[in-house]
Amino acid sequence: MKMIAHYHNAGFESVADGVMDFFERREDLQRPGVAFGPGGSEAEPAKVSTDISLVAHHGSDSEAFALADVIVRAVSAGLDHYLQERPLLRQVCPDQELFVMPIFNLQRYAPGEGFRQWHCDWTISDEATEPVHRVLAWILYCDSVDQAGTEFHWQEHHEVAERGKLVIFPASPSHIHRGRVNNELSKTIATGWINAGSREGFIKRLAHS
Ligand SMILES: [Fe+2]
Repeated sequence: MKMIAHYHNAGFESVADGVMDFFERREDLQRPGVAFGPGGSEAEPAKVSTDISLVAHHGSDSEAFALADVIVRAVSAGLDHYLQERPLLRQVCPDQELFVMPIFNLQRYAPGEGFRQWHCDWTISDEATEPVHRVLAWILYCDSVDQAGTEFHWQEHHEVAERGKLVIFPASPSHIHRGRVNNELSKTIATGWINAGSREGFIKRLAHS
């Protein structure tokens, strides 16, 4: 439990409201967020959702960029707290540096949908977000939904979905988790990763790829 932290304040609540508003209005950016992944299959995908991908860097869509930037700043503030409370974590990271990955997702789960497969956020696949460098994952719950949220396997812990609550936890298999599916209500989150290294270094590599 010591590595699962949640932060909740008025600032996160207003970011959550911004996500809800953006999601409703920007149907043009919504994509099916189906993930098959390990353990998933065509008959039963690991995840069913509607997603909007955001990039907090040089967006051609200024509204999407502005929201992405606000979210990354909010999560970075949460990360600062997380690391202050756990100085050893920063110490063991290469260059003692971590940053909030500027590429991340907004996800809406309709009633009965969810990331129902047990999984962790660490993988060695070759993606733009450099998953091999992932140290932590984050979720910002954007609405309050009873009997939803995230279940952590080893910790036997349930994190309730509450509007404006930011949760940070390790991306590794030590924190295998899944979404708790609600069959009556929909749930919206923003979610992404925190990688080892510097944001500047990442942006440079992204520009050259
Ligand atoms: Fe996850």
